Parts: sequence; structure tokens; C-alpha cells
Amino acid sequence: MDNFSHRYGPWAVVAGASNGIGLGFARQFAARGVNVVLASRNEAALRTEAEAIESEHGVATRVCVTDLTAADGPATIIDATADLDVGAVVYNAGAVHGAGLFHEGPLDEALFLVDLNCRGPVVLAHHFARRFVARGRGGIVLMSSMAALAGSAYVATYSASKAFDINLAEGLAIELRPRGVDAMAVVAGATRTPALLASGATVDESVYSLMEPDDVARGALDALGTTSLWVAGPGNQLAYDAMRTLPRSDVSLFMSQGSASLYDLPLL
Ligand SMILES: NC(=O)c1ccc[n+]([C@@H]2O[C@H](COP(=O)([O-])OP(=O)(O)OC[C@H]3O[C@@H](n4cnc5c(N)ncnc54)[C@H](OP(=O)(O)O)[C@@H]3O)[C@@H](O)[C@H]2O)c1
Repeated sequence: MDNFSHRYGPWAVVAGASNGIGLGFARQFAARGVNVVLASRNEAALRTEAEAIESEHGVATRVCVTDLTAADGPATIIDATADLDVGAVVYNAGAVHGAGLFHEGPLDEALFLVDLNCRGPVVLAHHFARRFVARGRGGIVLMSSMAALAGSAYVATYSASKAFDINLAEGLAIELRPRGVDAMAVVAGATRTPALLASGATVDESVYSLMEPDDVARGALDALGTTSLWVAGPGNQLAYDAMRTLPRSDVSLFMSQGSASLYDLPLL
């Protein structure tokens, strides 16, 4: 058994694994010899992808059908993996694309994002952190976004919830490192996923090249154990570094104008 599968196997759990970056994570774990639990809502898609992963990589898979925003959604994953020796969990689901003024949108939509991006990661990270500490090794990956770098108009709740994921992962990284467990936030930029393509966002690819989901997942798993925060892709890393040198209010305005142009909304 190589170091990766010893540390993060023999099973990995990916929450939000039926397409996009989450499916990329499932494939990347399998390519590294780790069996995968694929969890999300769409059972047919999960089964199709799980079969493809088994035949391509010769690992075992398990499908877990759950809505992570339901009260018992994250617990469904906990129950479905109780008999497995899990070494890694990736909380991927989270990009409910769409934009608008916070006070004009339904409260339920904002709370949905809090459930998906805050409550779900807390429940699963808490459960698996305990299990990983008990076995003395493991990895926790929480997906975040460049949208988390400062508050952004039009996606205020999304941006805030993704900042929560960064801070949660960073705090856990400090607590868990001496116990043999790695925690890491992934800061992704615009990535060619079905969710992004269906969102109505318009990305000018002559200015900003979309990343591919498998590249984000591969880079993240390569970085796991080396850092508590990994920025996907050199272009995003440059932008991330540059924005951290600017006054936060400027970054917030810049992010807001970016959201406006992405979703064809009035500049602020
Ligand atoms: N794509 C981007 O440009 C981008 C940029 C920055 C950050 N990110 C981050 O990367 C992650 C993945 O993004 P993505 O674009 O691939 O889209 P996504 O919609 O967050 O992820 C898609 C996956 O999540 C599952 N999912 C969505 N809602 C769910 C729910 N309520 N319960 C269970 N599973 C659910 C979907 O499967 P089912 O439909 O089968 O449930 C699918 O497998 C997110 O955390 C996002 O914030 C993405």
C-alpha cells in the first residue's frame, strides 16, 4: 500500500460526487487505489459513475443517496459508512449558482446555502475528525471558492458560507495536525462543471480560462497534507495573492463587480 492510500484510504467519502469537481475527486481517489463512497441526490448518475470508476480503476465503490440540506442528510452518509474504514472525506457540494440582492431573494434560499455549505461540513467534519483521530490518520477537504476572499454583493450568502468553510478547515488543520490528521480548504475559481454551465453565469474565456474539474481534484489531493489552504491553479493563486495585499473594502467592491458582470447584473 502506498503512502497516499495508507494515509487516506482504504475508503474515501465524497459528498456531492455525481458530477463536476466532486466526481473528479472520486476518480482521483480511485486512481490512487482508494475505494470511494459517492454521495449526492441523483441515484442514477451516482450508479453510472460508480460503475465507470470500478471498471476503470478496479476499486470498490458505494453509492449513498442523500440531500445534504435535509435535516438528516449528512447523517445518512455517517450511517452508510459506519462499517467502512474511511480515511478521507471531501465535502464538495456547495455551488448553488445564481445571484441577486440578498433582501430581495427568499430567506429559504439563503438558509439552504447555510445548510449546504456550513451545517453539512460541520456535521461530517465533526464525525470524521473523531474517527480519524482515533485511527491516527486521515484527511478532511472542504471546498471553498475565490468568492470567499471578501464579502460580495449579489452572492452575499454564498460568499459568506464559503468563508466559513475556509476558516473551519484552517482551524481544524491546526487542531488535528498533531493528531496525524490533515484538514484543508480548496479555493477554486471558475471551473467547467455542469452546475456552473447551467447557472447562467457568463465567463469570458478570452479573459479567464475555466479550470477542468479533474485538474482541481488532482491538484487538491496532491496538496493534501502539505497545506491547510490550497488555491486551484496558478492564475487563481496569483489573483488570490494580489487581493490579499489590497484593502479588504477594495477587494469586496472588486468581487461585487465581478459577480455583477458574471451574472449580467447592474454594476455597483
Ligand atoms: N464550478 C465552479 O466554478 C466553482 C468555483 C468555485 C468553487 N466551486 C466549489 O466547488 C464545489 C463543486 O462545485 P460544482 O460547480 O461542481 O457544483 P455543485 O453543485 O456544488 O456540486 C455538484 C455536486 O454536488 C451535488 N449536490 C448539489 N447539491 C446537493 C445537495 N443538496 N445534496 C447532495 N448533493 C448535492 C450534485 O449532485 P446531485 O445533483 O446528484 O445531488 C453534484 O454531485 C462547490 O463547493 C463550489 O462552491 C465551484
